[in-house]
Amino acid sequence: MDTVKLYNGKKMPVMGFKICKNSDEEKAVQSIVKAIEVGFRHIDSAAGYENEELVSKGLKKSGFPREELFLTSNLMVDKHVYSNVRDKVEGILEKLGTSYLDLYLIHWPLDVGTGEDWDKENLETWRAMEELYEEGKLKAIGVSNFSVNHLENIVEHAKIKPMVNQLMIYPGVTQNDVREYCKKYDIIVQACSPLNPLNVLRKEDRIREMLQKYNKSLAQVLLRFGLDLDVLPLTRSAHAYRIEENFDVFDFKLDQADFDYLFHWRHADFTESDDQNGEPPQIS
Ligand SMILES: NC(=O)c1ccc[n+]([C@@H]2O[C@H](COP(=O)([O-])OP(=O)(O)OC[C@H]3O[C@@H](n4cnc5c(N)ncnc54)[C@H](OP(=O)(O)O)[C@@H]3O)[C@@H](O)[C@H]2O)c1
Repeated sequence: MDTVKLYNGKKMPVMGFKICKNSDEEKAVQSIVKAIEVGFRHIDSAAGYENEELVSKGLKKSGFPREELFLTSNLMVDKHVYSNVRDKVEGILEKLGTSYLDLYLIHWPLDVGTGEDWDKENLETWRAMEELYEEGKLKAIGVSNFSVNHLENIVEHAKIKPMVNQLMIYPGVTQNDVREYCKKYDIIVQACSPLNPLNVLRKEDRIREMLQKYNKSLAQVLLRFGLDLDVLPLTRSAHAYRIEENFDVFDFKLDQADFDYLFHWRHADFTESDDQNGEPPQIS
């Protein structure tokens, strides 16, 4: 229940924890310590959020054994990055005081419009990650914010396909075409921003009834929605009681009708994609 297996056999904890950019140092360190204390084992960091040093401090303060944690980091992509990937990975390993990362992701793809050779450049970056994977410095490699065309480029031309795709997923943005593609190729989908529509949803009567029925908070219902959609939620909070609450989502499941309601929920501020037409899966 608390881990899934990537297609290479590596186990990945279901619940991930992250701190945001420009976090207050003391709060950020405390939040990582608290997250590990309540049961989060997957801690994410990103060069793009400049939070690797803070994550490192939090990990040290927790005193938790490295080998029992799953550490992810994200590569900030700039152009012609192949030659930089190794240095960036060495840098993060040094900052985190570890000899390997459990998962390394390309944070954003180069895309149509970012240059004529976006597809070749994404593949070059990926090739550098494959090498580090084969050397054992990266135990799993993946991507983030990759649409179907970005994934196809890697799956069809690279030696190793991505193991994870981290995407914005929450009611209103369920990324049906990308999730379907990932399922077909055994790529685990991780959901960042799972609580995004929380402040809008909380005003709805239907949602208030749901919370009473399950005796859970809206954050818990949204995280459960992600789990029932077969995606792995990645959350953050600076508050100890919320960190605790966000991990306490394994003792209930949504009814199919409530799940379907959230799956079909639309709001102008949150539904931007044109791929929202799929049918909700049956909760297993
Ligand atoms: N891969 C990507 O490109 C990408 C894109 C978006 C986000 N991310 C990353 O994913 C992480 C999560 O995204 P996110 O920041 O949108 O996170 P989120 O977990 O969906 O939402 C975090 C927000 O919800 C609040 N919150 C957390 N738990 C709560 C609870 N139980 N009840 C009420 N409010 C609660 C937090 O406030 P408090 O801190 O005050 O509790 C914070 O404002 C971020 O660290 C971000 O870096 C990655």
